[in-house]
Amino acid sequence: VMIFKLFQSQEKLAFDDEQFGLKDQIVIRFSHVVAENTPKGLAAKYFAELVSQKTSHNVKVEIFANGSLYTDDTEALHALKQGEIQMMAPATSKLTTSFPEWQLVDLPFVFPSYKAATEAFNGKIGKELFSLLEKENLKGLSFWSNGFKQMTSHIGPIHMPEDLAGQHFRIMPSKIIEEQYNLLNVKTSMLPFNSTYQSLETHTVTGQENTLSNIYSKKFYRVQEHLTISNHGFLGYVVLMNDDFWNQLPMNIQEIIIESMNEASEIIQNKSIELNQQSLKNIKNDSDIQIYELIQTEKDKWIEYLQPVYEQYELEFGNDLTQELYKIHN
Ligand code: LMR
Repeated sequence: VMIFKLFQSQEKLAFDDEQFGLKDQIVIRFSHVVAENTPKGLAAKYFAELVSQKTSHNVKVEIFANGSLYTDDTEALHALKQGEIQMMAPATSKLTTSFPEWQLVDLPFVFPSYKAATEAFNGKIGKELFSLLEKENLKGLSFWSNGFKQMTSHIGPIHMPEDLAGQHFRIMPSKIIEEQYNLLNVKTSMLPFNSTYQSLETHTVTGQENTLSNIYSKKFYRVQEHLTISNHGFLGYVVLMNDDFWNQLPMNIQEIIIESMNEASEIIQNKSIELNQQSLKNIKNDSDIQIYELIQTEKDKWIEYLQPVYEQYELEFGNDLTQELYKIHN
């Protein structure tokens, strides 16, 4: 039956023995920029292990962590569209140049909880955003959450929106993030993740925003004086495969990939929360960075201050998706 399925389509990869019957091992090159002991690093590893087990090693997911193949996500995304690599899982912000609607995820205080983020991606918001990807030869396989972004700086402390004025932040390439910082009178530079440490160390920029697992694993806390637990932004990933490559895969391999992806996604959901909490403990133990957690009345001020970017998003993309967001909030 499997053989029949395969030979229905001549485009599929060669397939000729009993179980998986691949003439050659299928290699899936998966490039990412973060450290291995992070939500994305671990999810990618689980996924690779599951695929290997379930295909009796007929399919190998070869992972390149820490930007070891492509230092920058922008470059890697281009390579993925061209089929030079087969998989990556960029932060949603990195997709916004190709798919500006994805800027929704970069709105400040966009999800009130992890649960809300997952709900959004499992619902209408996820469906609409994922449907855009195919236009650029990308197959969206899953959504992985890392967590909420915090702010670090060598100038501080940062409690109120006004406290950031005059600073210079490294941000991801997303216009709506840039606009938020413009409102705060902060200069921004869209720099690759793996140049961030050096830019902070040399004071090319004064600060940045990221999740605790990224701040810890890339040692940003060692070259920053202040850390504000603001949970002001969300960092999630879209797991992508080159769509042409996907369509060539034998159907039973596609099924295994989906199954493994679902398992890895579920595991990482809880693990990411734990990893970010652990990273905060590690940062506290390993440095004397000043840590401040925003209280609710301060958060309300940030929300109010940054409200214009919501209006801007609605103006540009209509308000269907933001209406969905408001439902999640209430
Ligand atoms: C960043 O550039 O700050 C993040 O996209 C890194 C990541 O992939 O978590």
